[in-house]
Amino acid sequence: MEVVIAPAEELAVLAADAIEALLRRDPAVVLGLATGSSPLKVYDELARRHREEGLSFARARGFMLDEYVGLPAEHPQRYRNVIETEIASRVAWPADQVLGPDGLAADIPAACSAYEQAITDAGGVDLQILGIGTDGHIAFNEPGSSLASRTRIKTLTAQTRVDNARFFDDDVEQVPTHCLTQGLGTIMQARHLVLLATGRQKAEAVHQLVEGPISAMWPGTVMQLHPHATVLVDDAAASRL
Ligand code: GLP
Repeated sequence: MEVVIAPAEELAVLAADAIEALLRRDPAVVLGLATGSSPLKVYDELARRHREEGLSFARARGFMLDEYVGLPAEHPQRYRNVIETEIASRVAWPADQVLGPDGLAADIPAACSAYEQAITDAGGVDLQILGIGTDGHIAFNEPGSSLASRTRIKTLTAQTRVDNARFFDDDVEQVPTHCLTQGLGTIMQARHLVLLATGRQKAEAVHQLVEGPISAMWPGTVMQLHPHATVLVDDAAASRL
């Protein structure tokens, strides 16, 4: 596991550099996309390179990590819409080349299996962008998630619902109770994992991720087993290392 400690702007440039290098080598690269605030500066940097330097996503494919269950299709916090707003529309990424788990599916287990199959059919994810929750979750794999898990429905913890209430008018009651998420086993199959974390509130999760024992109680620790994992953190998030 490679750990880089630098200011947030530099971290975003490093992550964008890794993505650009893949895109230049193979325009049909498969990227794993994360929501949350952690990757936003990376998306800003990719949008800038698209605008000013012609970086093209025309042939790239994207797979999202997770999705809320039951949010209406037009809801701005539905992760498919967040990804459209924060990255896809800004880099002219064809909509049918960016997929996420279907949080409105009538048959949830079938939708989860179909999503796993779509990732496999695309040849797997080349680079997966990740954030980490204050409780150590990656995607929505909350503490206690099997380290071998696949895409499935999960109940959000009270802590995550409180953390995410800021996206729902600071009203925790509006935060969905369930989500679909790629499993830790799914995420571990990506060929390169790039995790970003900034701010003191992430310090304990980053400490566990890098230095803690591998444990389902700190789901991010599974990354210690990955052959190519990069952890990009600012001083505050690294303050317990
Ligand atoms: C959310 C997302 C995760 C994200 C995490 C951290 O719950 N499902 O993918 O990594 O929270 O969010 P943030 O980057 O906003 O701190």
